[in-house]
Amino acid sequence: GVGPWDECFEVAVQLALRAGQIIRKALTEEKRVSTKTSAADLVTETDHRVEDLIISELRKRFPSHRFIAEEATASGAKCVLTHSPTWIIDPIDGTCNFVHRFPTVAVSIGFAVHQELEFGVIHHCTEERLYTGRRGQGAFCNGQRLQVSRETDLSKALVLTEIGPKRDPDTLKVFLSNMERLLHAKAHGVRVIGSSTLALCYLASGAADAYYQFGLHCWDLAAATVIIREAGGIVIDTSGGPLDLMSCRVVAAGTREMAALIAQALQTINYGRDDDK
Ligand code: IPD
Repeated sequence: GVGPWDECFEVAVQLALRAGQIIRKALTEEKRVSTKTSAADLVTETDHRVEDLIISELRKRFPSHRFIAEEATASGAKCVLTHSPTWIIDPIDGTCNFVHRFPTVAVSIGFAVHQELEFGVIHHCTEERLYTGRRGQGAFCNGQRLQVSRETDLSKALVLTEIGPKRDPDTLKVFLSNMERLLHAKAHGVRVIGSSTLALCYLASGAADAYYQFGLHCWDLAAATVIIREAGGIVIDTSGGPLDLMSCRVVAAGTREMAALIAQALQTINYGRDDDK
């Protein structure tokens, strides 16, 4: 049957594909790069162009909806999730990859109603893979159903993480010691691919067993969270408690056991919250 948000979902898919074309073309062209919160937190004119395109098209179609988006937030817009239908958008996830032409770059569009995530659309634009998840309807990549890994043993796990934007010595010490703890626990490997969103999509696909990060944002997480949950996976807070989309931290895994083991191993890096900036 036709669900209440079907039209929104279809529009999101079309926009993610269009945005992907723009990004793919811009990948090999010269870019104007600026920094945001740190020397490793980058933005280009393409981030702005893609975000403006997505928001202006959505506003035309759905004038009463609200928006949380990476570059609007960087320019001072407030990041609050109300009960209204809200789009949560990262125009380019993996901007640093994009700048270096490292081909792991995505567009991420999430949609929440009454503070509950309804669907997520993520376009891996360099490999032309479209990941989608809709609440209660499963998760797919280019039409193929996704299923997470069932692994519960950390010593058999492939773990993904991202560095996050802070690079001061104290933060780096904790970041590296977290990685060291997982390697001491004999995880098979730890990978850093440069896009939180795509790492989470790999987890949803069963290509890795766990993911954790401090310093990501709600727009890196919103769409991917629906996709992982619909693929049978777990998305929680690094404390082991329930996920808080605005808390800038996450643990995700194929199983509850694996998520708990990762959460127990981690020391916290404090990045503050998206909704009090
Ligand atoms: C960032 C990337 C990066 C991760 C950061 C994200 P952006 O997103 O996913 O790998 O470490 O936490 O904010 O800035 O490229 O959209």
